[in-house]
Amino acid sequence: MAPTASTVRFAAVGDLHVTKDSAGSLRSFFAQAAEAADVLLLCGDLTDYGTAEEAHVLADELALVKVPVVAVLGNHDYESGTPEIVCETLTKAGVRVLDGEACEIEGVGIAGAKGFAGGFGRGSLGAWGEPAIKLFVQEALNEAMKLESALAKLRTPRRICLLHYSPIAGTVAGEPVEIFPFLGSSRLEEPLLRYPVDAVFHGHAHRGTLESRTVNGVPVYNVARPLLLRSHPERLPFLLFELPREEMVPA
Ligand SMILES: [Fe+2]
Ligand SMILES: [Fe+2]
Repeated sequence: MAPTASTVRFAAVGDLHVTKDSAGSLRSFFAQAAEAADVLLLCGDLTDYGTAEEAHVLADELALVKVPVVAVLGNHDYESGTPEIVCETLTKAGVRVLDGEACEIEGVGIAGAKGFAGGFGRGSLGAWGEPAIKLFVQEALNEAMKLESALAKLRTPRRICLLHYSPIAGTVAGEPVEIFPFLGSSRLEEPLLRYPVDAVFHGHAHRGTLESRTVNGVPVYNVARPLLLRSHPERLPFLLFELPREEMVPA
């Protein structure tokens, strides 16, 4: 399918977990995703251990992609303690890495942040007791604030949101219930209620559920690559999402 003039098409996938052995394995996938879409969205866990070497492999795999690529980092991109190197390597390769920032592509506003864990609804961890618990909860609040400030910057009628962690329990359903608190946080849903978007994309929950909604009805898509592969083995592992293209009105 070639991109049409009336819609903007997004190909979304997360959890590529690129390793040093991934060289050459993703080029054709990216080429086909870029053929099908106007924009590529990458929802974190771009690398497996967050090493510079892995980031360079991913940058090389993306080298021939001519459509804009927008990404957020995931927890795996932090594992080596140098997420800034992953970010810098990808930025140099032309990827727009969002960490509490917003950008506009093809008339669509995109807000992105990694997000964090902490649980959902009544199961959310509260900032109470030991300093370590308060620090953990504060990290979730910091990520929610990053997301909120990114969303607040969007001025376009059409808006989407990229995360790594899930803002709702609906798209982690399928994972063992014991690990739900490590897969996302309802605190990420709160900014989405104040600043609604057309769609949210996230990864991280490899065995979750493809689609659900926030309490205000915003569609949320879990695009973790292992989940896409398992759900639709006959398709390439990306989710194609379309929005009507806003007409450019001359001033
Ligand atoms: Fe992952
Ligand atoms: Fe993850």
